[in-house]
Amino acid sequence: MKITALVSLAVAVLAFTEASPIDRRPRPDSNKGHSVPLTRNKNYKHNGRAQIAKLAARYPQLGLEERFSHLRNNAASSGHVPLTDVGNDLEYYGNVSVGTPAQVVKLDFDTGSSDIWFPSSTCTTTACKAHTRFNSAKSSTFQNDGRRWTISYGDSSSASGTLGSDIVSVGGISVRQTIGLATKESSQFGSSPEDGLFGLGFNTIESVSGVKTFLDNAIAAGALAQPVVSAYLPSVRRNGGVGGEYLFGAIDSTKYTGSLTYVPVTQKGYWQVLIQDAAFNGQSLGQTSQGIVDTGTTLVIVGDAVAKSIHGKISGSKNDPNNGWLVPCSVKSSTANVSFKMGGVSFNVPVADLAYEDMGDGSGNCFSGIQGGQDGLWILGDVFLKNNYCVFSQTSSPSIGIAPLNY
Ligand SMILES: *[C@@H]1O[C@H](CO)[C@@H](O)[C@H](O)[C@H]1NC(C)=O
Ligand SMILES: *[C@@H]1O[C@H](CO)[C@@H](O)[C@H](O)[C@H]1NC(C)=O
Repeated sequence: MKITALVSLAVAVLAFTEASPIDRRPRPDSNKGHSVPLTRNKNYKHNGRAQIAKLAARYPQLGLEERFSHLRNNAASSGHVPLTDVGNDLEYYGNVSVGTPAQVVKLDFDTGSSDIWFPSSTCTTTACKAHTRFNSAKSSTFQNDGRRWTISYGDSSSASGTLGSDIVSVGGISVRQTIGLATKESSQFGSSPEDGLFGLGFNTIESVSGVKTFLDNAIAAGALAQPVVSAYLPSVRRNGGVGGEYLFGAIDSTKYTGSLTYVPVTQKGYWQVLIQDAAFNGQSLGQTSQGIVDTGTTLVIVGDAVAKSIHGKISGSKNDPNNGWLVPCSVKSSTANVSFKMGGVSFNVPVADLAYEDMGDGSGNCFSGIQGGQDGLWILGDVFLKNNYCVFSQTSSPSIGIAPLNY
């Protein structure tokens, strides 16, 4: 099971949440100030592109056309990244092109963290060698940064190395981006099918402060038609896990039913929102909490009391001291729902999805898709996302648009 929400920050965010649950300070001035440089930047880039085109025509031997193709291609648009669903919706990864000429790495897109990293060709550990390693010497657009970087996730995995920058491209959207080149990674990554992570969180939780995220850079460059990334993560149970995608810069209304409910982000770091209630078959469990929508975490992880209430309604479930909450695997045929209310609307997680993985001990028990242990900051991971389409909207007042997934 993967938990990508940063472990050290989970504590920091909790502490902050207690002191000030929602940052309600009005920010009219900063909004205003923000829009001016954006407009100016746009003009600057536009002129820059025109200048490069002129220079390239006059001095073809400089190879400018090739080196700056990422600028030329950056008219506001959208990009599809097809996903591979690993195991029983354990994680979802997609191709990302880095450098010139492009080297393709497989990355796990993660709203629970903000760094983009993958192994460096200089890393010779077993874990690194099991993956595609990026060779910066073979990229004409690579720039050294030199700063060290290190990250630790909630499942105790970690990685570290040095920062650099290069052209990063997803679904045809290209920007110059600071990347972490891992020279060390923990053993958990040795067996993972993806090469690294692609953080979609806010820059406030970048492991090196001041680094801008891919979304920051793509939005500032005017590369996205809309400042959003939309996650469609279907499940093995519902459709074989086929056709998943991240859509940068647009929303695909064929991927959900009804209309999107936009839930305001309460704190920029993770994609954090207020969960107004949890319910079982529409019956309130009387709990409310801050929570994060985290594409990089496999399960839904709530507070202990809620986990207990939910499983108390599923006969045959139990809290195993070594494994956590178990449910009878027969709930696969249940029609009941757990739901989480946000922005005044309840979003379902079918109890059938709680039969996450057979314990394989002949007991007929399954490891539950909802676990406890996250009092104060619930994590709505893939067990939630495979039932609900989510649009991560990074406007000046960010929000998450949510609607039931269309299978
Ligand atoms: C990902 O990249 C690899 C290597 O370039 C390629 O073989 C594969 O078809 C790509 N997969 C998708 C889904 O684009
Ligand atoms: C659970 O949700 C599904 C989808 O919205 C619905 O069809 C079903 O009737 C719900 N089950 C119950 C017991 O309310």
